Amino acid sequence: MGRQLLLDNLDKPGINTLSGYQQTGGYESLKKALQMKPEDIVTEVQKSGLRGRGGAGFPTGMKWSFLAKPPGEPRYLICNADESEPGTFKDRYLMQHKPHILVEGMIISSFALGANTSYIYIRGEMMYVYHILQKAIDEAYAAGYLGKNILGSGFDLDLHVHCGAGAYICGEETALIESLEGKRGNPRIKPPFPAVKGLWGCPTVVNNVETIAAVVPIIRITGEEYAKIGVGKSTGTKLISASGHINKPGVYEIELGVPVEEFIYSEQYCGGIRNGKKLKAVVAGGSSVPVLPAELILKTANGEARLMTYESLADGGFATGTMLGSGGFIVMDEDTSIVKNVWNFSRFYHHESCGQCSPCREGTGWMYKILSRLLDGKGETKDIDLLWDIQRKIEGKTICPFGDAAAWPVAASIRHFRNEFEQYISKGKSDVKHYYRINNLQES
Ligand SMILES: Cc1cc2nc3c(=O)[nH]c(=O)nc-3n(C[C@H](O)[C@H](O)[C@H](O)COP(=O)(O)O)c2cc1C
Repeated sequence: MGRQLLLDNLDKPGINTLSGYQQTGGYESLKKALQMKPEDIVTEVQKSGLRGRGGAGFPTGMKWSFLAKPPGEPRYLICNADESEPGTFKDRYLMQHKPHILVEGMIISSFALGANTSYIYIRGEMMYVYHILQKAIDEAYAAGYLGKNILGSGFDLDLHVHCGAGAYICGEETALIESLEGKRGNPRIKPPFPAVKGLWGCPTVVNNVETIAAVVPIIRITGEEYAKIGVGKSTGTKLISASGHINKPGVYEIELGVPVEEFIYSEQYCGGIRNGKKLKAVVAGGSSVPVLPAELILKTANGEARLMTYESLADGGFATGTMLGSGGFIVMDEDTSIVKNVWNFSRFYHHESCGQCSPCREGTGWMYKILSRLLDGKGETKDIDLLWDIQRKIEGKTICPFGDAAAWPVAASIRHFRNEFEQYISKGKSDVKHYYRINNLQES
């Protein structure tokens, strides 16, 4: 197991309480940060090479440096704890077990950005985590880490937790801002970007839970030390939500750069494929990223070992590569129907489309209907081309990247597993063991 900067000390009793967290060095980074100039904290985060852990991997220090600072206008920091991407469950795990690392990260980051009011926007279904966070925040106020004149520094911060109502689109940062303002969570057209015009029209930074938590160890060990972990531009550690047909599903903190093969098969991580089955495919970064067949997830097209980094997973573009995304690592064994899997994802995207943009609103429904027809053994040969055509007409043609997220799984499933689509058409079923028929399902 590599260095554990976020999930360290999870076995310590009371780590979810203020005193337990403090006994492991908790809030020491805050004390150190409050002695620094805010701009030096931004520089430290830039030096660390930290990239946003919410999916896109945008450099955090650079995002922070873009924050506009018009005189007399408030600035806001929002933590994106919506975590609704199928296959991704690392943020809730961290918040549930170590809520204070997020609270500490929020205080340091707010200080660095000059925000005096900050928010954690959490998905409504995670009510139990909301209560855990609220308790941690109450403890932090009582200890003088939040509120007026924090630890005598002159810095004031109020931190609120806000519950969403459980819409995937509210994880998209501008939809999240709309929702936080009390409106329907429809994404905004960019520009202006939130760094210039965000919450209530003021400069705002939106960062993922893991990104903000990572600021705590960065301040503790320095940005330079953090940047030494990992490979190339993929620095530091990353939480991976591992699920599917593996022996040891769960949340793992890896040093970026671990070979994918080691991650899947070694005992310290996933422990290999369940019941001695063969690996068929992996969705490496949450349901939105392209699925890759075993041979391409383990090795790049030119035969190099695929690594758990932003660059290595993307090697070859979408022709042969994928994305690290949010680190939702879904492993499928030889008995899995890829058509069934992508049908399931399509059902989700159809249900969750906010409906603002026609290509996404209509296209997600069409893809879902065609995939349902295929699974039902009623597909026609032209359906594969039709699916391809529809996903092409959604990708890049919507206000927010939800459209891409809905299109990519369909495109990749056809690209790499076309024969399975053809089987459903020619035989009315798949050759894989767990093929699927919709008419056996009770659909609501
Ligand atoms: C449909 C959709 C859902 C998203 N859901 C989340 C989410 O649940 N959590 C998250 O951190 N980012 C999510 N994002 C990405 C955010 O828009 C944003 O890029 C991210 O919060 C920025 O944080 P980071 O720079 O720390 O990664 C989503 C994006 C889209 C398009």
